[in-house]
Amino acid sequence: MVEFDIRPNPQPMPETERQAVLAALVFGQVFTDHMVTLRWSAERGWHDGRLEPYQALTLDPASSIFHYGQEIFEGMKAYRQENGAIALFRPEANAARFNLSAQRLAMPELPVDTFVHALELLVAHDHGWVPDGEGNSLYLRPFMIATQPALGFTLPSNSYLFCVIASPVPAYFSGTTRLPALTVWLSEDYTRAAPGGTGAAKAGGNYAAAFLAQRQAVEQGCDQVVWLDAAHHTWVEEMGGMNLFFVTRTHDTDDDPVLMTPALTGTLLPGITRDSLLTLAPRFGIRPEEGRISINQWRKQCASGELTEVFACGTAAVIAPVGKVRGVSGEWTVGDGNPGPTTLRLRDELLGIQYGRRPDPFNWVHKVC
Ligand code: PLP
Ligand code: COI
Repeated sequence: MVEFDIRPNPQPMPETERQAVLAALVFGQVFTDHMVTLRWSAERGWHDGRLEPYQALTLDPASSIFHYGQEIFEGMKAYRQENGAIALFRPEANAARFNLSAQRLAMPELPVDTFVHALELLVAHDHGWVPDGEGNSLYLRPFMIATQPALGFTLPSNSYLFCVIASPVPAYFSGTTRLPALTVWLSEDYTRAAPGGTGAAKAGGNYAAAFLAQRQAVEQGCDQVVWLDAAHHTWVEEMGGMNLFFVTRTHDTDDDPVLMTPALTGTLLPGITRDSLLTLAPRFGIRPEEGRISINQWRKQCASGELTEVFACGTAAVIAPVGKVRGVSGEWTVGDGNPGPTTLRLRDELLGIQYGRRPDPFNWVHKVC
């Protein structure tokens, strides 16, 4: 495994200041005392690993990242457990997805144990930054950028920087008294990902191309964009930073509810929360299904009462109920517009496992310190 040189920050944030930050959390605006960096070159492979003070990066302005956007990232969290320990959730799954993204963007893969070790190092050194409290966590952002100073577009960069930064965060969507239901915007004119493109990779360019629609969503009073398939603008794929789930009940009341999520067609991100929920559902008498749903079906099945709940899920969002859907041709409500029982039950279970309150039957919790 790659070795990391430990260079502690001689001037960490004073304790009283850090406590003030932890008492007033905002998503992704304050960063901890350290970061991890690791370099790759064609000659040396992965080398020069460091845990070092959080600081600005110095890059040649000709670096490939600035011109051709060769960048990938991950999003994960460290959770303070009930017993005071700190744990990650399925970090090997993030490492595996990082390598799939790397393959798609023609970047070098990082050994899974090095990826996980880099996270462990940062969390262990900055453990005082992991906040207490339901929904709060230390958000970890591993990323990789192309650093070769070269403008030719012949071969991918021959040098890269891997870096991990950390930010104490609250729940991504938080209400003052209860879990808020989201209003979502159907993006019918823009496309996030097309077949053969980079939709299944966690690449910065996907998000750069999504900002215009996300701004449109905010202007329409919505929280997030719902992306539709590129060819027909009909089939629901996912949201800007989350996967989507649909809960249906047949009129035969003895039937289990069905939990459907769009299948992984290569144009949406294979979410780790998505995979966790598909795995957990049968334990609660819920039938998981990977399928497809059109916007017309979504609207009709809400009107008929067959589709009772919709929720978004992801590392940042956890599980966020969708209450209202808005688009150029009008809007409709999901159920009664409030979080439904399946959504709340799965959310409670997932958070219970992540915070160490519930048994962990699949060994997803990875203790750090
Ligand atoms: N889809 C997109 C576009 C995302 O950015 C995310 C967030 O990471 C997800 C889905 C959910 O993935 P995960 O559950 O692994 O966080
Ligand atoms: C995450 O859930 O980790 C994400 O990457 C979503 C991000 C766009 C905030």
